[in-house]
Amino acid sequence: MGKLERIGVSIDSELLKHFDRLSGERGYTNRSEAFRDLIRDQLVGQQTTAPNAMVVGSITLIYDHHASGLPEKLTELQHEFHALVVSTTHAHLDHDSCLEVLIVRGRGAEVERFADRLIGLKGVVHGKLVKSVAAGELGKPKKHTHKH
Ligand code: NI
Repeated sequence: MGKLERIGVSIDSELLKHFDRLSGERGYTNRSEAFRDLIRDQLVGQQTTAPNAMVVGSITLIYDHHASGLPEKLTELQHEFHALVVSTTHAHLDHDSCLEVLIVRGRGAEVERFADRLIGLKGVVHGKLVKSVAAGELGKPKKHTHKH
C-alpha cells in the first residue's frame, strides 16, 4: 500500500445522498472506506477480465445430490481441472441439497470454462463464480509469466 492521499471529489448532492444511504446500509461507518471499496471492485473487475489474467476465486454450487450421476460428474470435472482447484468444502444443507465451494486459481478463461461446465450440469440449481486477485496484485499491470 502507498501513502494516504487526500482528494476532493465533486459529486451531485442527490447521488451522494443515495451513496451515503447505501453505504450506511452496508455497514460502512466512513465514506472514504466505501469509496475505496468501490474503486477496488472496479480495479478487480477490470483486472480479471482479460482471458490470460491470473485470477483467484471461488465457485459456489448448490445442487441436489440425488440428481442422476451428478456427484460422479462433479468429481470427474474436478479431476479434469485439478490444476485449477486449490481446495473444496462441502456442506449437506438438508436431506436433498448440498452446498459446495471450490477455491480456484488460474488463468481467467480456464477458470470461467471450469465454472461454466460445473454450473451447467443438470441438477446444479444455482452456481456462481467470483473472480478476484491477491491483495498485493490489486491494480498491478498484467505480467507475462511465461514466454510464447
Ligand atoms: Ni451433501
